Amino acid sequence: MGNVVVVGTQWGDEGKGKVVDLLAARAELVVRFQGGNNAGHTLVVNGEQTICHLIPSGILHKGKKCLIGNGVVVDPEVLLEEIKKLRAKGVSVGPESFSLSEKAHLIMPYHRAVDLAREAAKGKDKIGTTGRGIGPCYEDKAGRTGIRAVDLLEPDTLKEKIAGNLEEKNFYLTKFLHAEALAFQPIYESYLSMAEILKPYISDVSLEIDEAIREGRRILFEGAQGTHLDIDHGTYPFVTSSNPVSGSACAGAGVGPDKLHHIIGIVKAYTTRVGAGPFPTELLDETGDYMQERGAEFGATTGRRRRCGWLDLVLVRDAARLNGLSSLSITKLDVLTGLKKLNICVAYALEGKRIEHRPASINKLALCSPIYEEMPGWRDDISSARERDELPREAQRYLKRIEEIVAVPLSIISVGPGRGETIILKDPFAPSQ
Ligand code: IMP
Repeated sequence: MGNVVVVGTQWGDEGKGKVVDLLAARAELVVRFQGGNNAGHTLVVNGEQTICHLIPSGILHKGKKCLIGNGVVVDPEVLLEEIKKLRAKGVSVGPESFSLSEKAHLIMPYHRAVDLAREAAKGKDKIGTTGRGIGPCYEDKAGRTGIRAVDLLEPDTLKEKIAGNLEEKNFYLTKFLHAEALAFQPIYESYLSMAEILKPYISDVSLEIDEAIREGRRILFEGAQGTHLDIDHGTYPFVTSSNPVSGSACAGAGVGPDKLHHIIGIVKAYTTRVGAGPFPTELLDETGDYMQERGAEFGATTGRRRRCGWLDLVLVRDAARLNGLSSLSITKLDVLTGLKKLNICVAYALEGKRIEHRPASINKLALCSPIYEEMPGWRDDISSARERDELPREAQRYLKRIEEIVAVPLSIISVGPGRGETIILKDPFAPSQ
């Protein structure tokens, strides 16, 4: 028996939500360890769509415990809204099914204000953030001025910290970003009243996980965003402010690396990106539009149209190394149905040389052109396939080439948005041979 970590291998939006949802059925605890409400997991359950931004997707399964680890930045307003929305759908969200780490940092209204004003000031050089205050909140965490969930339980500490932060933020907002100042009292009062509702959920998540591990319960660690949005390993500065790589599950949930047994990397059958930054395999033609439309490629959080392009295995190969992937899950394979020819990017050409890995310099990446392997496409609908060999021969070849180039075996293939539209080759929770 083992614990499983799910991570994105591209620029986020790989379809992690569906795989997490499937695996959550086999897990007893589901834990988020980084990011915040910049993430958005679209789940289709009984034909109905549900989007979760903060609460782990496992909440839709009865009897599971969902936890938000210390590495997540939490906007309490959004969290409460989500709890309310889920309850309205008949999903039970109480302290028996959900906990928030006392060490998780809170997104404050000034974080959102700074995020938005900074992006507006950058104009065409903007990063294209989700505007949720994620970066500014992580900045305060690193700057040791952040406000944590535990502070909600101590009104005097909360008051002092909000006042101290606000003095500095208002100076920065008004004098440098030419934005409006924020008033202390409404922020303090709203956080105090939210504290009352959140109190029962605030706990030591690391201890809860430890107890579960001692009892032999299965844990699923749910990553958000993707490897190439990682603050250290991604396409900096066009990245998010946390570490979506698997190693971050340890620091962000409070567990040791020996407790992570299977790392599953989610690979969308093509590539997408939201926000700015170089994208070597981007398609600005009708094939890109085909993927965008068939794949309904709109951001789950911001509703922005996602940029689309061919599958870039340079990115996925790097992700296999950076995350120590045990297996790959291919998602949205059905979106490619109907394309006559498919391209897979196997390397980049840069200044006349072939390179196998993504360069750190963003300027160099912008100069990289993809080296493609062309493969035949397929026309038949694949959504009813439940075994690998039920797929058209061309689709099987496409998958085989991914496995060969990335040198990591496949475990799950998604052939449609529904829970059942899946081919399971290996149970990631099963002990490895
Ligand atoms: P931030 O995380 O809001 O600071 O945004 C930084 C960059 O990460 C922007 O390009 C966002 O579009 C991107 N990003 C953040 N979260 C996600 C996600 O869940 N999926 C895809 N892109 C994301």
